[in-house]
Amino acid sequence: MTVKKLITVPDETLRKKSQRIEKVSQDEKKLVKDLFETMYHHKGIGLAAIQVGIPKKIIVLDVLQKDEKNNPLCFINPVIKNLSNEKSKYEEGCLSIPNTFIEIERPKTCLVEYIDIDGKKKNMKCDGLLSTCIQHEINHLDGKLIIDFLSKLKKDLIIKKLSKTKQNTDRILV
Ligand code: NI
Repeated sequence: MTVKKLITVPDETLRKKSQRIEKVSQDEKKLVKDLFETMYHHKGIGLAAIQVGIPKKIIVLDVLQKDEKNNPLCFINPVIKNLSNEKSKYEEGCLSIPNTFIEIERPKTCLVEYIDIDGKKKNMKCDGLLSTCIQHEINHLDGKLIIDFLSKLKKDLIIKKLSKTKQNTDRILV
């Protein structure tokens, strides 16, 4: 397993739409392992393949890590079939947008249809934190980021700040 390099805003790759997987092959299975490794390494609770630069409809999640008991979940080609009217609110961060947390209200429950790592069709009813996380990750597959929930002004400020940070990191004196 490999910890992959994360791509961050303003990298335009994050805006790409991910493609459906026709068949879960060894390549995808290896990618899923790497995604888990990368997610755990960065202490995230969710990660989409596009965040390591691969535009495939694959998501990994583990929202139970704090109980020191892992519950790795993998969703391939996830589609939301049902969203509740009832909402819940979390402060969301994103491994692709360093040091930024945004309060976002999303449907409290959702029904997700997907295929699992063995290529079997499944569905799962998600509630609370899991519901928010899966919606956040499915947004990634559509090229949508949490900063898109903000006004243009606030969004531009964050992008500007992150672009600067990036420049400083890359600047070297030799
Ligand atoms: Ni994210």
